[in-house]
Amino acid sequence: MKLLDTHLYEQGAPDDLRHLINYIARAGKYISHAIQIGDDLGLAGSNNASGEDQLALDVLSDKLIEDNLMICRLVSTAISEEKDEPIHCKCKGKDCTAKYSVAYDPLDGSSLVDANLSIGSIFSIVAGDGFVGKTGRDQVAALYIVYGPRTTLTYTMGKGTHEFTLNDVGEFELTDEAIKLKPSAKHFAPGNLRAITQNENYKAIVHRYMDEQYTLRYSGGMAPDINHMLVKREGIFMYPAYSPKYPEGKLRLLFECNPFSFIVEQAGGASHTGQMPVMDVEITEPHQRTPIFVGSVEEVEKVVGGLK
Ligand code: F6P
Repeated sequence: MKLLDTHLYEQGAPDDLRHLINYIARAGKYISHAIQIGDDLGLAGSNNASGEDQLALDVLSDKLIEDNLMICRLVSTAISEEKDEPIHCKCKGKDCTAKYSVAYDPLDGSSLVDANLSIGSIFSIVAGDGFVGKTGRDQVAALYIVYGPRTTLTYTMGKGTHEFTLNDVGEFELTDEAIKLKPSAKHFAPGNLRAITQNENYKAIVHRYMDEQYTLRYSGGMAPDINHMLVKREGIFMYPAYSPKYPEGKLRLLFECNPFSFIVEQAGGASHTGQMPVMDVEITEPHQRTPIFVGSVEEVEKVVGGLK
């Protein structure tokens, strides 16, 4: 048995980064518990930074993560997908020990929870204060937690992608090390199918996958959909732009696309906007959106070729 903390230590994580990831994992355990209890799966009566309805669970998860990021005294700036404004370390000043910034989506796909589908929390970590002007290549670590029949945590800090499962005594235990994706796939996850009404190239790509009898695996939650790919060792997840509602696509560069791109690249996969690798896009503002095509290398290459 190998626990998350030991694994981070053996991978050479600096002590402060190891502590930070442990604090994030702790927030994940509380969120997992709150989902299982399921006392309040309804609306909170508020909106998030993107104007979407917030669930009580969104608000609770956001608070649990924020509290853990602030008490660890290692985070200079935290940016939540649920909030307009970043949160700053309270102890800023000469003796401040906070040298990381964390962007997070506290409960991605939360509208699926009342239907008893899997949902997740996603985290992107960079060194220094803030994200604007940086790219996904500046990430020192990324991780996501999936709350499903099991609770799993998958992380990378640039030395492969590794999965841990929450055990009965509340520890994340190593269940899959150095995950490697095959170059080609049998499964496809075509998000934003509305876009085929405006984009002939995307329509042709989706039809090719159907003609070639790929198997559809799309849950509507990016965390479980990317997790499916990593567990099955192959797949392609697509969420293009071109819908009138989301001209840049729906998914956020900072909170979703960068962390998943890092995790998938570290598993030997690829991630592209259709114009450039996702992780090369400069971050200009926290709630920036981007199209994404991510997964097995040959599939991403074929799709990007088909978009031109
Ligand atoms: O951004 C939230 C999210 O739920 C993602 O997890 C998911 O991939 C996407 O939205 C689903 O969007 P749609 O409802 O268009 O399929």
